[in-house]
Amino acid sequence: MSANWSNRTIWTGDNLPIMRGMNSASVDLIYLDPPFNSKANYAAPIGSEAAGAEFKDTWTLQDVDIAWLDLIEAKHTRLNKVIHAAMSKSDKSYLIYMAVRLLEMHRILKSTGSIYLHCDPTMSHYLKLLMDAIFGRKNFRNEVVWHYFKPHSSKRTWPRNYDQVLYYTIADDWTFNHHATLFEYDEKSKRRYDKTDSEGRRFKVYTDTTGTVRKAYMKAGRADNVLKIPFVQGTSKERVGYPTQKPIALLERIIKASSNEEDVVFDPFCGCATTLVAADRHSRNWVGIDISNVAVRLVEDRIKADQGLFQDIQSRTDVPQRTDVGTLLMYNAPSNKKALYGEQGGHCNGCAQHFQIQNLEVDHIIARAQGGTDHLENLQLLCGHCNRVKGDRGQEYLIAKLAA
Ligand SMILES: C[S@@+](CC[C@H](N)C(=O)[O-])C[C@H]1O[C@@H](n2cnc3c(N)ncnc32)[C@H](O)[C@@H]1O
Repeated sequence: MSANWSNRTIWTGDNLPIMRGMNSASVDLIYLDPPFNSKANYAAPIGSEAAGAEFKDTWTLQDVDIAWLDLIEAKHTRLNKVIHAAMSKSDKSYLIYMAVRLLEMHRILKSTGSIYLHCDPTMSHYLKLLMDAIFGRKNFRNEVVWHYFKPHSSKRTWPRNYDQVLYYTIADDWTFNHHATLFEYDEKSKRRYDKTDSEGRRFKVYTDTTGTVRKAYMKAGRADNVLKIPFVQGTSKERVGYPTQKPIALLERIIKASSNEEDVVFDPFCGCATTLVAADRHSRNWVGIDISNVAVRLVEDRIKADQGLFQDIQSRTDVPQRTDVGTLLMYNAPSNKKALYGEQGGHCNGCAQHFQIQNLEVDHIIARAQGGTDHLENLQLLCGHCNRVKGDRGQEYLIAKLAA
């Protein structure tokens, strides 16, 4: 499906409504580095390029729209179980917030697409369960470990010097460029092995002690899934002062391994635009979203500094209109009812009893008064009794009532 935005678009705003407006199967690679539920507030120092950027990483149920949970409870049973396994209200809120967004990312990716979810041990165990429920356990490919060095003062535990990047694909046929996982040779080695054969292997030509001209190949640099890349330090050239800036070398490795030139790379939490700059550097198309209005300025400044010329960047704040869906049917159209009957196996989504199709009614999961739409994703079938009990309230109310 083609994209309903132009290449090099950066949106300022909440990524949920914007992603809901993006066409399905329109992106090749997603890298996301969301808030980690670290219970911290981040702010860029005054005077840095990123000054003015800040975001909160503490979670309460007030931070999430409880209607999202209704949708998950009604439509995504496995996901619902993962959310209810959370140990605290804060973790539960964070997982609801992430689940609704990851569902959109799954829809937006092409069937050959890949997703890399950057997290750390604070929530990685829960996020992996969410990813298993949304992308499928069999589509978990690996975990990329970003290993860095940070001085530690605690004598009561092991120093923690890594982040995890969970890597999933949509299906069995995915883009992967093995050569991009090999070590990059340093400049000194490249000068010594200054020739390249037709397969891209580097070698040098020398004359041995008998006077015979010979070739010597450089050893293939094999890497594994632990990438040792320094933290973006205060003195680092690439540092823009963004509180959670990730190293561009990490993004370059991921982008080169899991996409090809002209593919679309998407970062829904793009911060100071590290992913977008790396994508641009390697001739990928890109699109990004960040809630902070500093991101758009940083992407323009960084790409200009990186490429030495001003690129044509689209800055948007509107919610896009999907062009891959026809006009919406009336919510209770017979074809909607039939599709839902198949999806639910003929069972009421409240009491779970089996009914003939004529005895089930189409219900909005998120009520229209609360912004719920007539999309199939927001519809379910309930028996007359459950529909009356629920009324205009959320699914949570119906489930609690039925359990009482
Ligand atoms: C961990 S940072 C990303 C840093 C980025 N990888 C980089 O290298 O600069 C998380 C970002 O998510 C953004 N953010 C938080 N909630 C958001 C939302 N609902 N929609 C879009 N962006 C959001 C924050 O403003 C912040 O820039």
